[in-house]
Amino acid sequence: MGERVAVFAPGRVNLIGEHVDYAGGLVLPMAIGLGTTVTGERGGEFVELRSTALGGVARVTLQGQLLPLSDRPPAWAAHLAGLVAALAPARGFRGVISGDLPVGAGLSSSASLAVALALALGFSGTPLELARHVMAAEAAALGVPCGLMDPLVVASGRAGQALLIDCDSEHCAPVPLPQDWAFQLIDSGVRRDLGRSEYALRRHEVERACRRIGPLARASLADLERLDEPLLVRRARHVISEIARVRAFVKALEARDLGAAGALLDGCAASLSEDFFVSSPALDACVANVRSLPGVVGARLTGAGFGGFVLALARRGVVLPGIAVEAGDGACVR
Ligand code: GLA
Repeated sequence: MGERVAVFAPGRVNLIGEHVDYAGGLVLPMAIGLGTTVTGERGGEFVELRSTALGGVARVTLQGQLLPLSDRPPAWAAHLAGLVAALAPARGFRGVISGDLPVGAGLSSSASLAVALALALGFSGTPLELARHVMAAEAAALGVPCGLMDPLVVASGRAGQALLIDCDSEHCAPVPLPQDWAFQLIDSGVRRDLGRSEYALRRHEVERACRRIGPLARASLADLERLDEPLLVRRARHVISEIARVRAFVKALEARDLGAAGALLDGCAASLSEDFFVSSPALDACVANVRSLPGVVGARLTGAGFGGFVLALARRGVVLPGIAVEAGDGACVR
């Protein structure tokens, strides 16, 4: 008999600080109660997992080679194989993946799965080491150059608190959330696949702007004058203004200023739409709809954009047609 383990890794909601992690900026996500569970037994020469949510079984070697179990492996098997290859476990695992995180909805189902898998396969190290390990594995497996935010908050979230992450120094500071504020998620109904989205293109554009005017995390709006390409001005303006909004949001939390926090979420939504182009007219209309609901003080798409859930901020007790989310703890092994 191998060693039995059960791992839970949460999803996350990013309160503010979108598309700035890969530019060394500040982000403010929180881990949530929805997430991924991997249970099973460590040992053997293969990783074999059954998914209750997506259906099917996949078996891969420790080097990540997919082994045929049936004529048609489930669609997620190739992703699992890529993750196992990159995580390079020393021994196998046999078990079950289950979870309640919607996929492609901006709640980091992908980092949640990768962190749960890494821990189930026996990763040991600090949450920051785990996050770096998972970030590299996801980039290799998915080919999407995501930043550190998602795996880091999935690994180290804390109940009742958001995590202020400086993605340049990789320093994290917990920020308590006022108990009388409520964050709710309303589904836009649009799902996206980051690998097929313009995520990598946006990152590339931000990097081009950095090459012209230096690290955007240390730049000011005045530096935009040194950019001659209008498209890069827009991308860089989003990053620079978004980092300022994160700082202001933390101050609003400390001052319990709900109205100021709501206005900053609205500002983020406008910037993501008008300067960063990760929204669409239909998604903008959905955000505006949520914003107009009685009691909502601010709303925006959370995560990479292109679809997913709208995050709404209201005073606790306001009833909205969505899911209430609370800040929860990061991943744990039992
Ligand atoms: C995705 C990526 C993150 C981050 C966000 C946008 O969730 O995984 O690294 O870039 O998009 O803020």
